This record gives sequence, C-alpha cells and structure tokens, in this order.
Amino acid sequence: MNDSLTLRCVTGSVDATKALATALEPIVDDGDLVVLVGDLGAGKTAFTQGLCAALGVSDPVTSPTFTLANRYEGRIVVNHLDVYRIDALAEAEDLALTELLDDGVTLIEWGDVILPALPDDRLDVRITFGAGDDDRVLELTAVGPRWADRMASVRDRLGGWVA
Ligand SMILES: Nc1ncnc2c1ncn2[C@@H]1O[C@H](COP(=O)(O)OP(=O)(O)O)[C@@H](O)[C@H]1O
Ligand SMILES: [Mg+2]
Repeated sequence: MNDSLTLRCVTGSVDATKALATALEPIVDDGDLVVLVGDLGAGKTAFTQGLCAALGVSDPVTSPTFTLANRYEGRIVVNHLDVYRIDALAEAEDLALTELLDDGVTLIEWGDVILPALPDDRLDVRITFGAGDDDRVLELTAVGPRWADRMASVRDRLGGWVA
C-alpha cells in the first residue's frame, strides 16, 4: 500500500472522533463516498454524526440499521447507510447505489460487506479499538483518484490526530 494514500489517526474519546470527522467537512463534496469499516461500537456512527453536524444537519443522526438508508439535508445531502444486515450482495442492488451516490455525500457503515458493489473511488475509514477503552485507531485510505488528490489536504486537516 502506498503510504501517501493512507493516514493513521488515533482518538481518545468519542468527541475527538466527531471532531476528526468535522475537520473533513470543508473538503467533502457531492458524489463522495465514505466507507466505514469496524466492529460494533468502533465509532462508525459517531464519525457520521460528527460529519453531519459539521455539514449543518440538524436532525438527530442514528444508526440506520433497520432502515438501511437515512437521508439528511445539510450544506449538501447526506446519505447514511448501514449494510450490516445485508446477507447477499444481490440485495445491494436494491439500494439503488448509483442514484444515491449521485446526490450528496454517502457514508456506508459495514461497507466492506458490499465492496464489490461499490465504486473504486472512495475514502475507506477503518476503525479499530486501541489500548484504552476510549482509544480508537482510524485508518483512512484513499481508493481511486477522487480522494487520492485530496490526501495531502486530509493530512493537513487531521494533523493533530495523526499517529
Ligand atoms: N474514541 C472514540 N471514538 C468513537 N467512539 C468512542 C470512542 N471512545 C468511546 N467511544 C464510544 O464507542 C461507541 C461507538 O458507538 P458507535 O459510533 O455507534 O459505533 P458503531 O457505529 O461503529 O457501531 C459510543 O458509545 C462511543 O461513546
Ligand atoms: Mg453504527
């Protein structure tokens, strides 16, 4: 893996994870895809909440585990998906991903489950548990040119958390 395309960050609280996501807001754009990977309680929803708040979403943001997709209005539209319950890749087709991805920024929790159905142009955020109870390691990887071109800017913005 090319180091310039991956950024490893550490946060020590849920608020820090939200703040990290907030720091990305100015560079998030229509058509962006962010895939959130990590076990239950890793902080995928917390990351989404931080980004949504920064984008001006006023509705409460909750894990869409039972609805599969929520749509929020902020500076741009936010599509928030949780595909944990999808048992077959075929079901991913029902999500009408192509249309979703056209409109606003899309965040997909457990997106690795449907990776073959996703475009090769996205930001992967892999969250793992750190040493302390509230420590999380967030590994951000640019996949494809859309995010690769922005990684220097991502690095600048997340400098305080880079580990
Ligand atoms: N550094 C951290 N980053 C994110 N969440 C944290 C952190 N430390 C503790 N937490 C807690 O972990 C949980 C993360 O929950 P959530 O965001 O719903 O996870 P997921 O969506 O990955 O299942 C919350 O209860 C949050 O308070
Ligand atoms: Mg969640």
